Amino acid sequence: MTSEHVDWISHAAAAPLQGEITAPGDKSVSHRAIMLAALAQGVSQIDGFLEGEDTRATAAIFARMGVRIETPSASRRIVHGVGLQGLSAPAEVLDCGNAGTGMRLLAGLLAGQAFDSSLTGDDSLRRRPMRRVIEPLAAMGARIESAAGGLPPLRIAGGVALRGIDYALPVASAQVKSAILLAGLYARGETCVREPHPTRDYTERMLSAFGWPVIFEPGRARLSGGHQLRATEVSVPVDFSSAAFFLVAASLVPGSRLLLRAVGLNPRRTGLLQALRLMGADIREHAPREQGGERVADLEVRHARLRGIDVPVDLVPDMIDEFPILFIAAAAAEGVTTVRGAAELRVKESDRLAVMATGLRQLGIALDETPDGARIHGGSLQGGAVDSHGDHRIAMSFAVAGLLASGPVRIAECANVATSFPGFATLANACGFALQT
Ligand code: S3P
Repeated sequence: MTSEHVDWISHAAAAPLQGEITAPGDKSVSHRAIMLAALAQGVSQIDGFLEGEDTRATAAIFARMGVRIETPSASRRIVHGVGLQGLSAPAEVLDCGNAGTGMRLLAGLLAGQAFDSSLTGDDSLRRRPMRRVIEPLAAMGARIESAAGGLPPLRIAGGVALRGIDYALPVASAQVKSAILLAGLYARGETCVREPHPTRDYTERMLSAFGWPVIFEPGRARLSGGHQLRATEVSVPVDFSSAAFFLVAASLVPGSRLLLRAVGLNPRRTGLLQALRLMGADIREHAPREQGGERVADLEVRHARLRGIDVPVDLVPDMIDEFPILFIAAAAAEGVTTVRGAAELRVKESDRLAVMATGLRQLGIALDETPDGARIHGGSLQGGAVDSHGDHRIAMSFAVAGLLASGPVRIAECANVATSFPGFATLANACGFALQT
């Protein structure tokens, strides 16, 4: 979101990592909570809201469309819902910042409004493919124009009549599924989305929590237009994807033990947990419980020697955001780790296959990049300079690499860590990182 050049230097851990930490709220859930609370009738409260730039951008967009959103304290929002038809036309272009989730979900939701709107974002977001949402939404009757090549900005015409669709997603994408379902709220008839592999089901779950009838099972979701959303209380679980950096860090640094409190364990998010366990990680779940309809548990992670694996292709969608940190685990593991079926990584906040390959080679790791994955040869990480290309998860992953490297790891362009995990450096240093920011 920001063009500031912020470099970090990550030094080797002087001692084992230790402590008990609570990572911030889930990004996916926070976006959806703001959106549905804004469109509901009545006042909703959101607890555990992620105070990241991505989710704050989504909240600011709804404020621009006339929704009153209060912040009584950090990580809490009171949203005065305006009802499904109650948004007002924004006076200016709506800026989603760095957030693909924000833009794609909003494209679906805005396609159903009475007014025209435009969505833009930062340099990274303006390079991300939007045809994947434009095409199914157009088949529902939406009129959306993009820049050349199906890229943002998007201009969305209001006042069109949407009709339901039965759509088979060509790629497993929760964002595309969600865009279609949100347009389906405004459509005549039934909207059904089928996925080649199940993806995170937060939109479906949250629609149900706000009282909208949805029928869903892994790989399929179905709803009809013509209902109302009713205000509710949302308790956002800790983001597994943010906890992931600490799971790997404590696994890699000898003698470490960390306790990560109340981590969200939606099965569509925890592929990395399974992959790390296959690599030999020692991660235990304590006090499993429910929070806001999601399974959470405290995760205790202890150092363990990791070995390379063939990452099962079936796990890929369930760990789609965790490949940068998996690559660091693989680089420090004994033997070769193979990743396949992960071409989607090329269209995330950066081309994560290319950026991780370049960065790890800079740190002395041998790696063969393939069109849809990589073979990472575990070895000894050296110090060096890497470029995160403004990708938050890559910046945090190389901060973890620095814990083990034989010299300092300088990481360029770390400002965007604030999109998903603003307090990362403070929390990391509190449990034993030596991260200079
Ligand atoms: C998300 C879905 C995933 C994920 C992203 C968040 C969501 O993207 O990578 O960080 O909240 O729906 P895709 O739908 O593009 O796979």
